[in-house]
Amino acid sequence: MIICSSLSDLEQAISSLSNDCKIGLVPTMGALHQGHISLVKTAFKYTDTVIVSIFVNPVQFNNPDDLKRYPRTVEADCRLLEDAGTTIVFIPSVEDIYPEPDNRVFDLGGLDSVGEGPRRPGHFNGVAKVVTRLFDLTKPTYAFFGEKDFQQLAIIRFFTRQLGYPVEIIPCPIFREDDGLAMSSRNTLLDSEQRNAAPAIYKALSNASRLADQRELSPKELIGITVREINSNPYLNSEYVEIVNSLTLQPVTGWDEAAGIQMWVAVFAGEIRLIDNIKLK
Ligand code: PAJ
Repeated sequence: MIICSSLSDLEQAISSLSNDCKIGLVPTMGALHQGHISLVKTAFKYTDTVIVSIFVNPVQFNNPDDLKRYPRTVEADCRLLEDAGTTIVFIPSVEDIYPEPDNRVFDLGGLDSVGEGPRRPGHFNGVAKVVTRLFDLTKPTYAFFGEKDFQQLAIIRFFTRQLGYPVEIIPCPIFREDDGLAMSSRNTLLDSEQRNAAPAIYKALSNASRLADQRELSPKELIGITVREINSNPYLNSEYVEIVNSLTLQPVTGWDEAAGIQMWVAVFAGEIRLIDNIKLK
């Protein structure tokens, strides 16, 4: 595995690859877990040249405390990536990614008007800045993103197409702990009571999925039930529960949506904000 900590390292590593190789890119913010590694494994099904980037992207954090406490574990990350067979790990500095302040404002097609968008102003625009920069630097044929961040995936697909990047975006399923909690770098910040409570989020989502199958409740009623179920746990506090069209991401009022329907949630366990989602249709 080649470790690149600067732009010139990256340029050199990429120029040493054979001309006809197809690059698979897995962007991450580090503090890697098996969810990230599942993306790397999927990437190797598409190509044998996989670049993983580790960059805690300051411009996508709307909350400075969240940025400050974001876990950083680069050495352990590199060990996991090496074991997974990663070709190149790219660990740039802030100056490498943003040599000058990046003032671009992206058209996100209104996909940021729901869910995380209004609760984290500027977040998705910051994601677009770093992802387009990583595309420009690594010129991937494929890029891999997790369905854990369902809205992020939809937005990345949108701007990749809109800006004409010749990159195929490959969605990867949510990787969970045995108790159902979606793996997340933020899980390490939970204390033991919060950690024990957190699987209730996926239980509530699974319950909602079963109830949705019966088609007896409206989406609005199902949201109410799910909010109450999450909040009945003393360690959890739901910020939002929404049921949306899987393509337009707009809230739905009935079950008749050809594109598919997704439920997504953001839940506070103390100060730690967890997100999860499930397909309802
Ligand atoms: P990060 O949270 O590190 O996640 C990196 C990638 O791993 C994302 O595509 C995310 O959806 C995926 N991922 C995280 N947990 C997962 C899980 N449990 N199962 C499946 N996939 C999972 O998302 C980001 O970083 C950043 O916003 C980034 C895209 C790197 C831009 O800075």
